[in-house]
Amino acid sequence: MASVFPLADLRTSATPGSWVDTIIKGDCVAALEALPTHSVDVIFADPPYNLQLGGTLHRPDQSLVDAVDDEWDQFASFEAYDAFTRAWLLACRRVLKPTGTIWVIGSYHNIFRVGATMQDLNFWILNDIVWRKTNPMPNFKGRRFQNAHETMIWASPSAKVKGYTFNYDAMKAANDDVQMRSDWLFPICNGGERLKGDDGKKVHPTQKPEALLARVIMASSKPGDIILDPFFGSGTTGAVAKRLGRHFVGIEREQDYIDAASARIASVEPLGKAELTVMTGKKAEARIAFNVLVESGLIKPGQVLTDARRRHSAIVRADGTVAAGGEAGSIHRLGAKVQGLDACNGWTFWHYDDGQSLRPIDDLRTIIRNDMGKVG
Ligand SMILES: C[S@@+](CC[C@H](N)C(=O)[O-])C[C@H]1O[C@@H](n2cnc3c(N)ncnc32)[C@H](O)[C@@H]1O
Repeated sequence: MASVFPLADLRTSATPGSWVDTIIKGDCVAALEALPTHSVDVIFADPPYNLQLGGTLHRPDQSLVDAVDDEWDQFASFEAYDAFTRAWLLACRRVLKPTGTIWVIGSYHNIFRVGATMQDLNFWILNDIVWRKTNPMPNFKGRRFQNAHETMIWASPSAKVKGYTFNYDAMKAANDDVQMRSDWLFPICNGGERLKGDDGKKVHPTQKPEALLARVIMASSKPGDIILDPFFGSGTTGAVAKRLGRHFVGIEREQDYIDAASARIASVEPLGKAELTVMTGKKAEARIAFNVLVESGLIKPGQVLTDARRRHSAIVRADGTVAAGGEAGSIHRLGAKVQGLDACNGWTFWHYDDGQSLRPIDDLRTIIRNDMGKVG
């Protein structure tokens, strides 16, 4: 079983990080306040929706719809819901690393209120993702459109944040080399994935699909990161995080859900290191300027560079610029100038002679990058 951490122990625990890969039992605001500042990489929050159901709902055949009418989803007023939202969001912000990001999922019942509160608290919204359900529940009364989606707000703690994790290249490659869009199509959680009790009833009324969490985690975290879920429920976030080689910490106040989540997570086998390596592209590579090649001696001042067909040539200067025909500038600017173009990628345009053939200077940049990756 995944271990469970009583909130009282969390407050007194002397062991740093002892709460990682555990479920903390208790109220999320109190639990978050007991966690260290800037200690988690990503937060996924699936808070109460405050559905405000007015009585029971029946299908046309008079069978009862199993709606979310649990006590934890009920608030006395919008003001009470907003105050709760503000409290847990503020507590999340303190625990989140400055370069971390937060996801909050909700429906039309609550997501606008949550979004406004996030903006009031200076969270910076990166995207609102629409989860379009392939198999949504019908609108039984036929008085409105079928409600077929939920919204996820993805945000960083402030507008100034640079360097948060977004695995852009991996997402694009996974999407058949087309940029991943903000509307995602997934079925709701059912079939074998849906946790059921001995009585055949759902263990949790709002269990989220693992595929949705997998995309969230793959997009916004790295292997080894800590993903916190303050409304853990049946532990979907923990199960997917563990499978994807991330750490988790869940907070949940209902013992039955904790028991189900704990058993669920214990049965998950993490994927291997090779399967979990995240693809990166040019953007993620260390920025190396041309003068680094000169400073490192891979290119010498006075050396002649040419294009691949030796139609243009330029001399390298000690300050990392190149010169030809009375003009001087960066490898890019001079490359464009000699060709009469507006722009040029100097890394692939300019070549050096390695004694056997002409090679693009980009090859030398790769040597430097590879050296930077070596430890010791
Ligand atoms: C919408 S459900 C989350 C479901 C979860 N994402 C899953 O896939 O199973 C919200 C959960 O938050 C819990 N909860 C509500 N208020 C809480 C609070 N103040 N502190 C801790 N847990 C709370 C509820 O018991 C419920 O399990």
